Amino acid sequence: MRKAKMIFGVIGAGFLSVGAGAVELPAGPNKDVVARACSSCHDLDMVFDAAGQTREGWNGTIEEMTGYGLQLSPSERAQVLEYLTSFLGPDAKKPR
Ligand code: HEC
Repeated sequence: MRKAKMIFGVIGAGFLSVGAGAVELPAGPNKDVVARACSSCHDLDMVFDAAGQTREGWNGTIEEMTGYGLQLSPSERAQVLEYLTSFLGPDAKKPR
């Protein structure tokens, strides 16, 4: 998680100065699905900013995004939830 912490630190230091494309998701299974599904309406910054959520929390976020118009197949949805819980879950809390 070293790389992720670094990224969170950068965002914390200057959220507004982080431009589109500056944020890279931690490498891992299903990263591509998440990057594609979650960057079509807003920057992935939004996703990073919510790091530290439990599985239930992310599940709720996906529900909310579905309300905004996010479209995922059931298998993609499971992959996204798996990725977010593993890489941006409770163990990946942002330094405050
Ligand atoms: C169909 C468009 C759309 C897609 C696709 C989308 N979002 Fe969002 N997202 C939004 C909107 C609209 C907001 C609210 C923006 C605001 O408040 O300014 C938002 C806000 C957020 C927030 C901020 C907290 C909140 O609840 O408002 C998070 C976290 C988030 N999105 C995560 C995700 C993740 C993770 C994905 C991929 C699974 C995703 N989004 C895909 C539209 C989308």
